[in-house]
Amino acid sequence: MLGTAWDYQDHLEEFLDKLAAVEARGTLVCNPPTVVRWNAEKRYLCELEQRGASIVPTLWHGDAGRAEVLSAMDQFDTNRVVVKRQVGAGGLGQQSFTRAALPDGEWRMDRPCMIQPFLPSVVEEGEYTFVFIEGVFSHGVLKRAAKGEYRIQSLFGGYESDYAPEQADLARAQAVVNALPFDDLLYCRIDMARLPSGQLAVMEAEAIEPYLYPEQGSGLGKRLAAAILNRLN
Ligand SMILES: Nc1ncnc2c1ncn2[C@@H]1O[C@H](COP(=O)(O)OP(=O)(O)O)[C@@H](O)[C@H]1O
Ligand SMILES: [Mg+2]
Repeated sequence: MLGTAWDYQDHLEEFLDKLAAVEARGTLVCNPPTVVRWNAEKRYLCELEQRGASIVPTLWHGDAGRAEVLSAMDQFDTNRVVVKRQVGAGGLGQQSFTRAALPDGEWRMDRPCMIQPFLPSVVEEGEYTFVFIEGVFSHGVLKRAAKGEYRIQSLFGGYESDYAPEQADLARAQAVVNALPFDDLLYCRIDMARLPSGQLAVMEAEAIEPYLYPEQGSGLGKRLAAAILNRLN
């Protein structure tokens, strides 16, 4: 199982090559390297959308500066957007701009990136995580941001609590799992946020990061162990 994947976003090829080399030695790797390779670039969200999942509206750019930020605000008819790396994790390198605080003319992301409308629900109600083991829902987590922050990661003061999803919300998360173009994932985390329409949309389907919120999932250890045993037999 992937153990420490925390800085793969800054060493992508090295990380993927290492996984492939481990697999080539005959070691069973979870999640499988083909899944990890697919999941490392957030463009996979387009494929999930084509396959029936609802995603947060997103514009994709080879790079972005002030002009792309302004144009995204116009297209999304909003005053605030979030600009993220296409290969990113932990909210690192992410920027949020408002019409009142635009980037200056020289600013660039300097890498492939994506722009989304800022979803106020992330601050107002939080982001939801649905943990799946072998495609079966294990447990939910509600992740909230610290006061004055919008990023829910603990690095930025975010905190988690237990979350038992409503049927309609769980169905949205299950639809994302069903849209995955693989059926051999050991574990997967579906992170979702509520759109202004009230419907949950996928922010990321995380199949790399091995952190599965054990504190909110009392049965997780047993479930995961059983699934791993099953693969080894
Ligand atoms: N469109 C958005 N609206 C509001 N908050 C967002 C939006 N996109 C990301 N965030 C915040 O930033 C965090 C990191 O973004 P995310 O897309 O999950 O990337 P990462 O792979 O870095 O975790 C999210 O957990 C959320 O708190
Ligand atoms: Mg995230």
